[in-house]
Amino acid sequence: MTATATAVAREPDQGRALLEVVEVCKMFSGGERTVVALDRVTLRVRRGEFVCLVGPSGCGKTTLLRIIDGLDEADAGTMFLDGQQLTGVSRDMAYVFQDINLLPWRSVLDNVALGLEVRGLPKQERQQRAMEVLEMVGLADVAKSPPYTLSGGMQQRVGVARALAMHPKVFLMDEPFGQLDNFTREGLQVELARLWAELGATIVFVTHDVDEAIFLGDRIALFHVNPGRITEIVDVDLPRPRTEYDFRSDPRTLELRRHITQHLEVGRLGGR
Ligand SMILES: Nc1ncnc2c1ncn2[C@@H]1O[C@H](COP(=O)(O)OP(=O)(O)O)[C@@H](O)[C@H]1O
Ligand SMILES: [Mg+2]
Repeated sequence: MTATATAVAREPDQGRALLEVVEVCKMFSGGERTVVALDRVTLRVRRGEFVCLVGPSGCGKTTLLRIIDGLDEADAGTMFLDGQQLTGVSRDMAYVFQDINLLPWRSVLDNVALGLEVRGLPKQERQQRAMEVLEMVGLADVAKSPPYTLSGGMQQRVGVARALAMHPKVFLMDEPFGQLDNFTREGLQVELARLWAELGATIVFVTHDVDEAIFLGDRIALFHVNPGRITEIVDVDLPRPRTEYDFRSDPRTLELRRHITQHLEVGRLGGR
């Protein structure tokens, strides 16, 4: 990683939020069971901000990302991007899934270019853009390889590249590193923090890993389950780049971790 790029101090835009989610509700009913997946969830994300969503399993994190992306519809509530109301699938969002699902018969490059193909970009342009982003994530060397020859960590980087190629206004990432071993995961966290800083990207990132959220986030939205709702939003007031000091044992990290873990213990119980 390049020290100069990450050393740049970044202040998120203090003006109107880039992404606004206001009072979004979502219920699922199946048989005799009705689940309140999201109960009046409100979240504002500033341009250039890195916001993490943390909460127990089933608290609606994936549902929220899917609704923001337009893959799913809210029962109530409104959403705005750049002040414009969001309805349906937006070209300005790119989703990074936990399970990347690359097409095995396409090269890494063609997997990355797939979304651009769907958008009708000419072949030369989409290949050029795909190559650019593969270089950004350090995978230019394997551009022509089939994806199954890549390690799990490399495949997740392809997933990030695929999102980068779309030039979205907002990245929605749903536990993208959740299935990786600790060592690989920490490497990807550092890379993502670098990319975010270099690009001035706006990211909404779901994780169940508290340390990951503290390492990456400007703010962390904490959820309770049943009904799924945001009960607290925590500022992560730690200097960046967070690779430049012993972040994990910094007293501020320890205090934040304690606070969040305690909150999650309560939130896991639900029904209050
Ligand atoms: N398509 C669906 N049909 C029925 N229930 C669903 C559906 N999607 C999610 N749920 C339920 O909504 C709740 C929230 O799910 P989800 O958003 O996946 O949580 P998380 O990502 O935080 O683990 C859970 O109780 C889940 O079972
Ligand atoms: Mg989920």
